[in-house]
Amino acid sequence: MEKHIEKIQKYLHNGSTEVMDNRIEKLRKHIDEILINMKDAQERRCGYLHLYGVSQACAMIALKRNQDVELATMVGMLHDLHSYKAMNTKNHAEHGAVLARQILEELSLTTDKETDLICSAIRNHSSKETTHSAFDEVLKDADVLQHCLYNPLFPVMEHEEYRFQNLLTEFGILRTL
Ligand SMILES: [Fe+2]
Repeated sequence: MEKHIEKIQKYLHNGSTEVMDNRIEKLRKHIDEILINMKDAQERRCGYLHLYGVSQACAMIALKRNQDVELATMVGMLHDLHSYKAMNTKNHAEHGAVLARQILEELSLTTDKETDLICSAIRNHSSKETTHSAFDEVLKDADVLQHCLYNPLFPVMEHEEYRFQNLLTEFGILRTL
């Protein structure tokens, strides 16, 4: 399986291995290690889908809003990791920020300023009804986008309608799902 993924990565990067060894991939390896050790297969599947789905949505929204795409991709991967690792969603934003700091410091991947940016976004991401910094808002909107696009035929949850509608407008999508 790993060989297959490596092959795809090489293909995507024209055979260059250098570009594969960046901060996003280093973090992904660490996160994969945690997810792969989850005992419940169904929860593990949810973890992969949600964390990497939000991560990709973060990248897209960050590109659109001229925010840091690399850090946005990383915050998406990390934001709910604690919930899946501990199988507990109580105070998950606060616990998630603590775990993210622990991982980023352990891997020495980010500067103090970058770590603060990532952890602040995770700490604030449950407060969808309030507006925080532009970077925090990327994560909140990406979280909503992943929920809404998991299955576009499912009804959008009432508390996510406002942000989802704003995202469609921001991306120039005039039709509704
Ligand atoms: Fe989430």
